[in-house]
Amino acid sequence: MTSSLMGRNIPFGATKENTYSAKVDEKMNSKTPIKTQLPLYKALPTVKSTDRIKPRGSRRVYIETYGCQMNVSDSELMAGILIQNGYEIVDDSDTADVVLLNTCAIRENAETKVLNRLKHLNHLKRQKPNLVLGVCGCMAQHMKTKITDAAPYVDLLLGPDAYRNLPMAINVVTSGDAFLGLRPDKGEDYADIAPIRKEGVRAWLTIQRGCDKMCTFCIVPFVRGRERSIPLPLLVNDVKRLVDEGFKEVVLLGQTVNSYHDGQHNFVDLLFAMSEVEGIERVRFTSPHPSDATDGMIQAMASCDKVCNQIHLPLQSGSTKVLQAMRRTYTAEAYRDLVAKMRERIPNLAISTDVIVGFCGETEADFMETCNLMAEIRYDSAFMFKYSARDGTLAHRTLEDDVSEEEKGRRLRTIIELQEGISHELNQALIGETVEVLVEGESRRDADKYHGKTDGFKTAVFPKVNSKIGELVRVKVESATAHTLLGEIVA
Ligand code: SAH
Ligand code: F3S
Repeated sequence: MTSSLMGRNIPFGATKENTYSAKVDEKMNSKTPIKTQLPLYKALPTVKSTDRIKPRGSRRVYIETYGCQMNVSDSELMAGILIQNGYEIVDDSDTADVVLLNTCAIRENAETKVLNRLKHLNHLKRQKPNLVLGVCGCMAQHMKTKITDAAPYVDLLLGPDAYRNLPMAINVVTSGDAFLGLRPDKGEDYADIAPIRKEGVRAWLTIQRGCDKMCTFCIVPFVRGRERSIPLPLLVNDVKRLVDEGFKEVVLLGQTVNSYHDGQHNFVDLLFAMSEVEGIERVRFTSPHPSDATDGMIQAMASCDKVCNQIHLPLQSGSTKVLQAMRRTYTAEAYRDLVAKMRERIPNLAISTDVIVGFCGETEADFMETCNLMAEIRYDSAFMFKYSARDGTLAHRTLEDDVSEEEKGRRLRTIIELQEGISHELNQALIGETVEVLVEGESRRDADKYHGKTDGFKTAVFPKVNSKIGELVRVKVESATAHTLLGEIVA
């Protein structure tokens, strides 16, 4: 989980593509789609939450997700909206009537991946002319013209505030029109929608949408709009429901998750409220912003047993000059002090981060400051990226993207190598220790073994004996790589 190729922002090792399946009433199906391609997109008013839109024909929907955990969570929301309206979610594009790509705009390579995938899906569309093809999420919001130019066969475009329109949009397309739903809606929080999650032990719960921080490199505020928080009582009910559904761990999601405020409660209130829910074993969150990391938050992490001793704390750069150009609102010194304070108050704190190399104006000396800070802090893991200029951001408009592609590549390779070494050493140091692991599922490589995560979000693999999925077990670490701990369950 260390390179830009991983397509992070995927904190906590989520997959790049996820699909969701669920069953609906078979009677709803009437498969008579008649569809012609029209160049004009139709924009209709947003549907109200109480409206139900009956499928007109195209009913089996396949959702493919790109990008961050927030997108995975949005796909669960899309699945919830569609199922509520009589659609079926399938886990294979070949059997689907509708294929939706839920996309990411954070870096150029995320967009290239989707454009290539669309070309491939166009072949499928040629074989199945009635197939509805949609692009949803951040890239739809950000690159309408680029998508319609590169892939004129796309039938619908929906931004992150318009998922409620999905059933209507599919019906519109089925009747022969294209559909465009890109109007930002700063009131949309989908608080009343029940997402459809894959079964498992860990659930991701969106507690906040949008971002108000406006880092100069970042497209998120433009595609996801202003920050808004879902009311605490609703979130507490969500977690109770997750417990009933068998989930053991909840990860609270937001772009600056610790700036959560629903008008009455802040993030600290939320952490306490979450850890009081009976049956939930672990609470995590991602990603907090260093400037919003209050003493209260640190105190809550230290005092709530269920809140894991782990934090993903994006650094971005070790140079205060670069941080200022990025408008990150903290200095390298303040970040260093924050980490020291957290380590002092929270025992065995595991820390991961995000780093960008080659930002506008980053000199070799600035880059060395990043290397030095990473070497000093010794993160457990890191997501590392080359700066990718995004249309419309302040950096794109006002700063020169002046570090060459080759140099960005060299700097990225340098910090990946540095971090791999540190991750390896930190994991080696755990050999002989016993760690608590939440059992998640069968190891992909060995059917006799389970895998799970430690409190610090490290992957552990161990023989299945005396354990089952969903249990917390104690594993004695016997060997380790930079990314995995291997061991055996002990009493
Ligand atoms: N606050 C959010 C950030 C989302 S973007 C969160 O972590 O939940 C995730 C990471 O992508 C950022 O922390 C940053 O390191 C990286 N990133 C964002 N914009 C980028 C760009 N234009 N080029 C390269 N990396 C970028
Ligand atoms: Fe992006 Fe900065 Fe917000 S990285 S998501 S603008 S905190």
